[in-house]
Amino acid sequence: MTPIRIAFLATTLLVLAGCGSKATPEQTAQALQAFNTIEQVFQHPRCSNCHIPGDAPLQFDAQTPHAQGVVRGPEGHGAPGLPCSACHGKQNLPDSYGPHAPPGAPHWGLPPPDQKMAWIGVPAAELCAMIKDKQRTGGRDLDAMLKHVDEDALVLWGWAPGGTRTPVPVPHAEFVAAFRTWKDAGAPCPGA
Ligand code: HEC
Ligand code: HEC
Repeated sequence: MTPIRIAFLATTLLVLAGCGSKATPEQTAQALQAFNTIEQVFQHPRCSNCHIPGDAPLQFDAQTPHAQGVVRGPEGHGAPGLPCSACHGKQNLPDSYGPHAPPGAPHWGLPPPDQKMAWIGVPAAELCAMIKDKQRTGGRDLDAMLKHVDEDALVLWGWAPGGTRTPVPVPHAEFVAAFRTWKDAGAPCPGA
């Protein structure tokens, strides 16, 4: 190949690489705005009460430690003698049980101790990095996580939490759309 041809090829490759991997500034700005929505939902008490660094789940909008000395346990489902399922069923109880009945959803529990996914109160950039790090998310990539936030029963519970609990204020469809926008633009992190 002549040097000119090589130069031409190299330029073409550079241009192609640029098109393939870089979102436009507009897409990036949109994606960062979408990430604000993601952050708002992830940090809402209906979500972050379970996504905690400590050992006891939190309760209420005030995010106080769970009553009855409940703990994460070896797999996130509580202590062997007091599993979450002793009180939490697969769905919320009827209103007749009163506003303080234990809420319910399938596989109610905390993430396991070696994969806590503890994002409560972390800054946006750190939350973003955490979600993108497969080591910290049980091996899920962003496509799997999009499916999780779209379909998982514990996630959906946040929009129908029972009792007098405040649901997540962002509509679920809007949240999922924001996640998709962010992911499709290459999942940029704030401050990066
Ligand atoms: C009752 C506790 C509980 C609540 C409430 C809860 N989660 Fe989770 N969350 C879990 C558990 C347990 C896992 C791990 C489950 C698994 O690996 O399948 C998890 C995993 C996740 C993951 C997966 C991370 C990954 O690996 O991809 C995301 C994202 C997530 N939750 C988001 C949310 C959002 C958003 C809400 C609120 C709308 C929420 N969670 C509410 C317990 C909870
Ligand atoms: C002894 C019964 C009992 C056990 C065991 C128990 N819970 Fe609860 N939990 C409750 C009750 C009752 C409520 C509702 C309290 C209220 O609204 O006043 C509750 C509320 C919660 C909430 C609050 C939701 C919110 O956003 O305010 C979370 C999260 C929670 N439990 C997680 C767990 C997890 C995770 C486990 C197992 C590791 C567990 N609980 C084990 C009885 C229990």
